[in-house]
Amino acid sequence: MQFELIEKLRNLASQRPELQAIVDDALSVASACKSLEEIKNARIAILGKKGLASRILKGIGEAPQDERPLLGQVGNLLREVVSAILDEKEREIEKEEVGTGELREILDVTLPGRRVTLGKDHVLINTIREIIEIFVSLGYTVESGPEVEYDYYNFEALNTPAYHPARSLQDTFYVRRLDAEKENPKDVLLRTHTSPVQVRVMESRKPPLYVVSPGKAYRKDEIDATHSAMFFQVEGFAVDSNLTMGHLKGTLEVFIRKLFGSERKVRFRPHFFPFTEPSAEVDVSCFSCGGKGCSLCKHVGWLEILGCGMIDPNVFKNVGYDPEEYTGFAFGMGIERIAMMKYGIEDMRLFYEDDLRFLSQF
Ligand code: PHE
Repeated sequence: MQFELIEKLRNLASQRPELQAIVDDALSVASACKSLEEIKNARIAILGKKGLASRILKGIGEAPQDERPLLGQVGNLLREVVSAILDEKEREIEKEEVGTGELREILDVTLPGRRVTLGKDHVLINTIREIIEIFVSLGYTVESGPEVEYDYYNFEALNTPAYHPARSLQDTFYVRRLDAEKENPKDVLLRTHTSPVQVRVMESRKPPLYVVSPGKAYRKDEIDATHSAMFFQVEGFAVDSNLTMGHLKGTLEVFIRKLFGSERKVRFRPHFFPFTEPSAEVDVSCFSCGGKGCSLCKHVGWLEILGCGMIDPNVFKNVGYDPEEYTGFAFGMGIERIAMMKYGIEDMRLFYEDDLRFLSQF
């Protein structure tokens, strides 16, 4: 087909020597192209505005009447033929570069592709997210506080002064101690719980407050299946007028059933925290035996999942709230414990070991 068109073009052009010269010239330039660069230049030289084909067509105006059809035919045919030749050359060169060129040495297109594995969020982060979402659905807002904290926020303002026995319960990592002999509110430490966020938020805002705060806490614990020197907690608290222990119990019951299932039983056991009065620990009926007693719950039928209580009036005084005007409750839970119970994980260290065989299960 292309060959026939070329023949036709040559025949027509041969009627006039000037035309023949231009056509021969154009065809030899087009068929000599050996690179994409040369093809590009040939397009300009032959098909461009000032190219050879245009020159023929532009000549029509000055040509005598009887020669005009010939010029038109030759000019258009030259265009058609040359662009077909150049297009084909371009395709050939591109094919060659992948098929026989350097690329083929390193690229075996018949090999199967490598599977791309997608990462996902850590099971602890997802557990935190689930907990936070439940409280957000109850109207709580989310706040955060620093992990490197002053003694004042971690202990003092939370009604836990230096002589308080509760301090020995929480062995603390210190960053800066002003006096080796005794604690100082300006000492800097790694927070031992997320409760200091209560104080920071109350200092900067006015009730009503309904707040949850997830984050890391640190304690000088020996690392074993149920202890870690760094762990996650979610803190929660509410301050309003007329909040009672009933509100606390109702809130936590709703939360626990949403998180662990509506069939779970919940019980409150009296306990002690310096910053709440009264205080309680909350147990949930054992997942494994449903309350009958098994090895998971150490044969008591219950699993402890959080600490809580009514915010102590002394804490309100420390942040400048009038304890006669406001009441509130607070609670704090360990995330590793909750995730371990929820998924039947027996060793806390698995959370931190970055073993994908473990992590990819969740
Ligand atoms: N901060 C306490 C802990 O880490 C938990 C707690 C929070 C208890 C709020 C009561 C109120 O053990």
